[in-house]
Amino acid sequence: MEKLTIKIHVTDRQGEHHHLNVPTDMSMNLMEVIRSYELAEEGMIGICGGMAMCASCHCYITSKHQLKSPSSEEEFMLLDANDVKENSRLSCQIPISIELNNLELIISPFQ
Ligand code: FES
Repeated sequence: MEKLTIKIHVTDRQGEHHHLNVPTDMSMNLMEVIRSYELAEEGMIGICGGMAMCASCHCYITSKHQLKSPSSEEEFMLLDANDVKENSRLSCQIPISIELNNLELIISPFQ
């Protein structure tokens, strides 16, 4: 089977832009991608391990991609998060797939 890699564009908490090559066949979510590229300090993202229970992976999706709607757990967690906007999502709740090619996001301030 052909290996598919997509591009994801991330702005980190320092305002730096990163253009990532992300494999679609490793069952990763966006938070894990951000961690694997070390775009947020250790212990400052993914604190709950991707269970939608901490909001440390909160991000803003700035491209026009149609993402799967948030689960009730994600919505509930975002109710409690800081600096929530219309385009807020928990990056751990977004699985990597080919449809995310060229997705753009900003990592929210740490919370
Ligand atoms: S890692 Fe905790 S909510 Fe995403």
